[in-house]
Amino acid sequence: MEIRIDRSAPVPLPRQIRLQLERLIREGILGPGVKLPASRELAQDLGVNRTTVTLAYEELVSEGIARAHVGQGTFVAAPEATPQASGPGLLPGPDWSGLFSKGSQLAAVDGRRRELSSQPVRPGGELISFAGGMPDSGLFPTEAFRRVLNRVIRAEGPELLQYYPVGGYPPLRQFLSRYLLGFGVEARPEEILIVNGSQQGLDLIARVLLDPGDFVAMEEPSYPRAIQVFRAFGAQLLPIPLGSDGLRLDLLERLLGRHAPKLLYCQPSAHNPTGLTMSPGARRGLLELAGRHRVPVVEDGFDGSLCFGERPPGPLKAGDGSGLVICIGTFSKILFPGLRLGWLVAPAAVLERLELAKQLSDIHTSPLIQAAVFHFCQRRLLERHLTRCAPEYSRRRVILLRALESRMPAGVTWTEPRGGFSLLLALPEEIDAAALLPRALDHGVAFTPGSVFFVDGGGESTLRLSFSTISTQRIDEGIKRLADVVRQALSRPTRRGPVERSTVPLV
Ligand SMILES: Cc1ncc(COP(=O)(O)O)c(C=O)c1O
Repeated sequence: MEIRIDRSAPVPLPRQIRLQLERLIREGILGPGVKLPASRELAQDLGVNRTTVTLAYEELVSEGIARAHVGQGTFVAAPEATPQASGPGLLPGPDWSGLFSKGSQLAAVDGRRRELSSQPVRPGGELISFAGGMPDSGLFPTEAFRRVLNRVIRAEGPELLQYYPVGGYPPLRQFLSRYLLGFGVEARPEEILIVNGSQQGLDLIARVLLDPGDFVAMEEPSYPRAIQVFRAFGAQLLPIPLGSDGLRLDLLERLLGRHAPKLLYCQPSAHNPTGLTMSPGARRGLLELAGRHRVPVVEDGFDGSLCFGERPPGPLKAGDGSGLVICIGTFSKILFPGLRLGWLVAPAAVLERLELAKQLSDIHTSPLIQAAVFHFCQRRLLERHLTRCAPEYSRRRVILLRALESRMPAGVTWTEPRGGFSLLLALPEEIDAAALLPRALDHGVAFTPGSVFFVDGGGESTLRLSFSTISTQRIDEGIKRLADVVRQALSRPTRRGPVERSTVPLV
């Protein structure tokens, strides 16, 4: 705690001390309950008389900012007792907005970021939330992971707590090489880079390959944080609607010819938000087009472990004859997102650059977490977890589809997910899903408005329903509430007048 005394200032010393302590308390640096230094010690440190400090403390106490306890000292008061500070000596902070990098494109994504991270909360906790596409923490094998983590620390602690090579924990890279082979992807361990979740993979790819103004083609709707990352690096996005078996290849071909994009981003399996899967023919067609136009493809989340019904066709990377596919995978959906652990497979020349970018960003991913996950997988605990949770997610999906079928009014349609945690629902065009959300929250149900999955507007009458975190008993009740809200909105539309909008690419 640094307090500065200015003996040349016209402000009396006790007031100088009081104002600086008040600022530290107001900013939360000295939190409620924190003991202030003993007056004798502080006086000594500051080179002032002890009475000067005592006077400052007395002022804080008299204003309810601090409490004095006889024989124990002076403590920061609880927040409700802390009035807003004001007066001279409390300088406003700098105007940071004027200091941000002029080259940074982050300002362009700010609004959407806030929209995404604002999770609806309802007092009483009886909200049924279909928002947020995460795994159910109630199904987490937490105890099994704790045991593995303990064992790993005991056996390899000192090495794993040291700085580490950027590429990753070798046994995990070897494990992933075998794991990927199970999906038909041939990647040597040194062609696999361990990253902090697929999100970091996307960030590194954008960092290494994009220049401001470059075109990036992507499916629409698509994963919002991919949209944001590419925007943050100044890319111009070229949305390609989804057709019945994946992104519309006819439109992709036209765009490739006209704009020569630097990248094509797609999610061929377990697509977020629709849950759709690209057909084998569409995958072949996409690879053929990418090869002909020499455009790198970023394949996000190809993992077939959380797919419903028949296994999805092999990942694009498995059929990548021209070495143009960079694929990204993650433990976030199949294990725990909080681990921040994923991987990236790329051709050697790109991987080298990606490693360099990662090194500059965070030096490496936690070796301790990598080792724990490796041993967890090696003991077949990941397999065991998936055999437990995949059927549960599958049941939730079936119940959601049944509930939608029986409860939604005519004019509402939805995608039938083949994988992942969510589906996209299209309301009648006159209903704006974002405007519907407050009404839905009043009825105790939440969803993600679909417009965040669209590049430049569009999707206003769509919404994403995630079924992964809601118990089978609650899904039907949630959909009943949502259907009631939709019915009400149909009788009182949330949007006035006709609205210009592009066709929502639902199938
Ligand atoms: C398509 C897609 N890509 C990437 C991510 C980010 O995942 P991670 O937790 O691995 O960073 C998500 C998370 O929901 C996603 O849906």
